[in-house]
Amino acid sequence: MHETIIILDFGSQVTQLIARRVREADVYCEIISCHAGLAVVKAKNPKGIILSGGPASVYVPGAPQVDPELYRLGVPVLGICYGIQVTAHNTGGKVVKADHREFGRTDITCDVTSPLFAGLPGEQTVWMSHGDRIEAIPGAQVLARSASCPMAAVHAPGLNFWGVQFHPEVTHSDHGTAIIRNFLVKICGCKRDWTMGSFIDEEIARIRAQVGPERVILGLSGGVDSSVAAVLLHKAIGKQLTCIFVNNGVLRKDEAEGVRKLFADHIGIDLDYVDASERFLGALKGVEDPEKKRKIIGKLFVDVFKDEAARIKATSGGQVKFLAQGTLYPDVIESVSVHGGPASVIKSHHNVGGLPADLGLGLVEPFRYLFKDEVRTIGAKLGLSDAVVWRQPFPGPGLGVRILGEVTAEKVRVLQEADAIVRAEIEAAGLTRAIWQAFAVLLPVKSVGVMGDERTYENACCIRAVTSTDGMTADWAQLPHDLLGRISNRIINEVRGINRVVYDITSKPPGTIEWE
Ligand code: XMP
Repeated sequence: MHETIIILDFGSQVTQLIARRVREADVYCEIISCHAGLAVVKAKNPKGIILSGGPASVYVPGAPQVDPELYRLGVPVLGICYGIQVTAHNTGGKVVKADHREFGRTDITCDVTSPLFAGLPGEQTVWMSHGDRIEAIPGAQVLARSASCPMAAVHAPGLNFWGVQFHPEVTHSDHGTAIIRNFLVKICGCKRDWTMGSFIDEEIARIRAQVGPERVILGLSGGVDSSVAAVLLHKAIGKQLTCIFVNNGVLRKDEAEGVRKLFADHIGIDLDYVDASERFLGALKGVEDPEKKRKIIGKLFVDVFKDEAARIKATSGGQVKFLAQGTLYPDVIESVSVHGGPASVIKSHHNVGGLPADLGLGLVEPFRYLFKDEVRTIGAKLGLSDAVVWRQPFPGPGLGVRILGEVTAEKVRVLQEADAIVRAEIEAAGLTRAIWQAFAVLLPVKSVGVMGDERTYENACCIRAVTSTDGMTADWAQLPHDLLGRISNRIINEVRGINRVVYDITSKPPGTIEWE
């Protein structure tokens, strides 16, 4: 068992960032809904508890509250923003509407003799985002103040409570990471025992114990999560693992061959390659509606997968009892609705496009408590190349949602060529890691052009490149004009079927990253 910090989520948009900061300090943590109840928190035997921010005011009817028993568990509690306000509200202190709401960068003066600010400058910039502020917490000493927030940080020894009105978890707070680390190490006494090296060894033992002598199948997409999961499982159970790679006919150029080569030839993993491209393209014939296309691709994927699982069962001799997936922690966190309602929102996600309940297989999900960057670290430690570990996300429905309107084999060929040029040029410019995704979209629009005195009448292609940290919001990437020019020239010169290139300058929201 690792030392555990529990983060109680009060619905902040940035609760996951608190978890990221704790993990970066080599301390294991879990996010739990503020409605979970004290028994659930106690059962985790935490070394410390962090109360997140949240959108509510403590005075709004139905605003989430804290059981005061929480402050008698004998472990330090850190309240952030709403976490400090709800503490004041529930322990006999006082919360008031601030005369001056504070949003954005704010200068504070802090007490560096306190363990919370130990080793940090006495004057620093933090990120504030609050309308209410606390005026009193029983027995609290003030540790920091800003011009309009006299209690920007406090320590209430009687409650074993430390609180900050600002957000140390966001990067705009200059020393936020160090403040959180101080809480973990100097106040909670954490020994920092969470490292990816130890995770690999422990997870291999856990997988072996879970799986025993049974067979496991894994849907390999070639993306980071399923690739790293495949290598970890292979290390744990070797030949008991079969990876299934489905060519759905809407993959990127050379992708099927690349994944085959990497896994079967280099890593030596038993790869079941299924070329279902004709089956997919046949089902997509004549379909123009984006949602219909997505549903067809998702359902067919499951059908193919089930067929293969049955075939492996029939031919391998041993029963297939488990399905492995690269599901990540952000996909399974049970978070509080940001709309403040008591009902929890559970985000569920299936890497293989919505698995039917009757698949009859146990799940092996080694990364269900990890973030993507932790999976990348594991991938690197397991010897996967940068090209795999830093691969940009690619949607399950593939080029099917980047060919607007009907998908045909010819359109797939045209888009594959254009897309390969975009990715090659982004790579050559050294921008692959800086950009969340860069790709081409084939538009169902024809326009007139002129090439070598000849009139052309061909499709337009759109380049989409965005920056993002999680894909939830995104900004269009300000690519250098000469790079855009090179991409445009190459596509028009090299790809038969495209005679015009445009650049998408829509952020998300209001747009989405993919076009369909
Ligand atoms: P949107 O287009 O919703 O995409 O802004 C956000 C991120 O999710 C990816 N995406 C998908 N990934 N299956 C996936 O595994 C899907 O059906 C799917 N649709 C979108 C998209 O590429 C972007 O990174």
